[in-house]
Amino acid sequence: MLATGKIQLGVASIFTLGAILWFGQGLLSRGQGPAMQGPPPATTLPWRSNKPFKEAGYVGGEACAECHVREFKSYHDAAMARALQTAADSLILKSHARLTFRVGPYSYEIIRDGDRSIYSVSDGKRSIAVPILYSFGQGKAGQTYVLEYKGAFYESRVSYYRALDGLDFTIGYPRTVPSSLEEALGRAISLDETLSCFGCHATASSFGKRLQLEQMIPGVSCEACHGPGRDHIAAMEAGREETRIFNPGKMSPDELSQEFCGSCHRSVEQVLNMPQQGGINNVRFQPYRLFTSRGHDPTDPRLSCVACHNPHEHLREDVAYYDAKCLACHQTKVELGPAARKVALAKDRTAKACPISDRNCVTCHMPKVDLPGAHLKFTDHRIRIARPGEPYPN
Ligand code: HEC
Ligand code: HEC
Ligand code: HEC
Ligand code: HEC
Ligand code: HEC
Ligand code: HEC
Ligand code: HEC
Repeated sequence: MLATGKIQLGVASIFTLGAILWFGQGLLSRGQGPAMQGPPPATTLPWRSNKPFKEAGYVGGEACAECHVREFKSYHDAAMARALQTAADSLILKSHARLTFRVGPYSYEIIRDGDRSIYSVSDGKRSIAVPILYSFGQGKAGQTYVLEYKGAFYESRVSYYRALDGLDFTIGYPRTVPSSLEEALGRAISLDETLSCFGCHATASSFGKRLQLEQMIPGVSCEACHGPGRDHIAAMEAGREETRIFNPGKMSPDELSQEFCGSCHRSVEQVLNMPQQGGINNVRFQPYRLFTSRGHDPTDPRLSCVACHNPHEHLREDVAYYDAKCLACHQTKVELGPAARKVALAKDRTAKACPISDRNCVTCHMPKVDLPGAHLKFTDHRIRIARPGEPYPN
């Protein structure tokens, strides 16, 4: 693992940043740009199986409910659990009878028809209409559709955005008029890209380089992170000692953040291989941002992803919740309340106190960044003294 501080964070010039935003922002943000190393194929991750669905022993998240009531209850409607849905189950598609968008001569429509949603684009003379197969993203920022056209998978050129409650260009596509009806529809995605899209948004979608979408469990289900559960359940029912399931909590903090969460949220290695580290898009790549926070030791368990996020629960959006996380290391100039005192034993708090405030730390030191085209602000995980008006530190 690289050590913090060794990375030179060059200030990207306005020109290079602009170029990235214009050419292939989404391609970069998805880790698929031709000029950069893509994410590792999902099936090479050690906790996943390389065998076909049945043989691998996937049982589905409901099978865990009986014994792990707490995890199951809090997780079933969490964002990651809904990272992919079939068109029939997609909450956003179900609740929108008709969505429309227009650019130049092209008009788009997504029409609900029973259990299906039909995505169509017309140039006034010709039109293409195809059923949506899957929605990607539960729609915190937005939702993109995967379609099938002429035997290939397509990523939709327009996406749903919550802030608009409507459609707009999918992030990363140039905001120009498409040059043909096919181009207006979307972009054909290669097998490798299909494998990684489904690998990050769903469970057991492939083995080796083969897709198994009929069996796949939509969304990031328990077994996407813990591996197939059949042998574990059998062992627990038989009262055996060995649990026979992967527990990422046993990884070192740095491995957990980079190799585990980073396998989908993008690790520091992946981002360092992107041209200009992905530009402002890398605000979406928390493992990289956090790792490059000056003075912060990524091998400290108080700074791993699970120190601030319980992956089985909804994301906490109350800023005060995070104070105790910072104060596990940082001193304060004022006496702490009882809740914070419990987490933060004075002897372990060796990092400096803030001269400005003793609360709501993340509002100033983990600022929200408006990502162009995303219609959502992301939280910059590079913890720092953010100066007003400073350019985005790459
Ligand atoms: C029949 C009951 C039962 C079922 C069903 C079950 N588990 Fe467990 N699980 C256990 C028990 C018992 C333990 C051990 C608890 C302990 O020692 O802390 C455990 C431990 C675990 C651990 C920690 C393992 C370790 O080595 O630290 C994970 C992760 C886990 N279960 C995930 C799952 C998942 C995912 C499912 C569904 C695919 C599942 N379990 C289904 C009973 C069950
Ligand atoms: C198998 C891939 C995968 C892994 C591994 C993974 N994530 Fe995620 N995560 C996702 C996807 C996909 C989303 C986007 C869900 C959406 O909004 O549709 C997401 C979203 C999130 C969110 C945002 C939730 C919200 O409400 O906005 C948090 C927080 C998060 N993940 C934390 C973690 C942490 C912490 C880990 C490691 C313990 C982790 N994730 C591991 C795929 C993954
Ligand atoms: C390397 C893993 C990875 C791959 C590959 C990937 N995603 Fe994601 N995706 C994520 C993670 C993690 C998030 C949550 C953080 C964020 O919004 O960037 C996410 C978020 C999203 C969101 C926003 C979700 C929301 O709730 O706002 C959409 C839409 C999306 N992805 C679509 C896609 C599509 C379509 C593809 C393939 C063409 C794809 N993704 C490929 C990991 C991945
Ligand atoms: C996004 C990845 C992810 C998903 C999805 C996920 N887990 Fe976990 N799980 C983790 C991580 C990371 C840990 C270790 C947490 C820690 O040590 O703080 C963990 C730990 C556990 C443990 C051990 C808890 C303990 O106290 O040691 C159990 C049991 C468990 N998970 C069950 C489940 C079940 C059941 C589901 C589905 C409802 C599920 N997990 C979904 C990432 C995930
Ligand atoms: C020191 C605390 C802290 C740590 C460590 C941390 N996060 Fe976060 N994270 C936050 C805060 C604060 C938010 C914003 C919550 C809100 O207001 O919505 C957030 C939000 C997120 C989101 C939602 C998207 C966004 O940008 O708002 C994702 C995804 C996420 N974190 C993933 C991760 C991953 C992966 C790791 C490990 C590399 C990690 N976080 C480590 C504090 C932390
Ligand atoms: C694992 C312990 C740890 C945690 C957790 C932690 N910090 Fe730090 N932080 C440090 C250390 C060590 C330094 C470097 C020098 C010092 O202040 O002693 C530092 C430095 C800083 C700096 C100054 C950075 C600079 O560029 O000079 C700020 C601001 C800061 N931390 C804020 C936070 C906030 C806000 C949180 C919670 C979101 C947080 N830290 C969480 C240990 C930690
Ligand atoms: C209202 C905004 C704001 C809040 C809230 C805030 N800070 Fe700060 N913090 C600042 C500013 C501005 C500076 C830089 C002060 C300077 O350099 O004059 C700073 C400096 C720091 C430093 C560097 C101190 C040094 O001597 O180098 C640390 C560490 C820090 N803050 C941690 C925290 C922690 C932990 C919290 C929550 C308990 C917090 N901050 C809350 C604005 C804030």
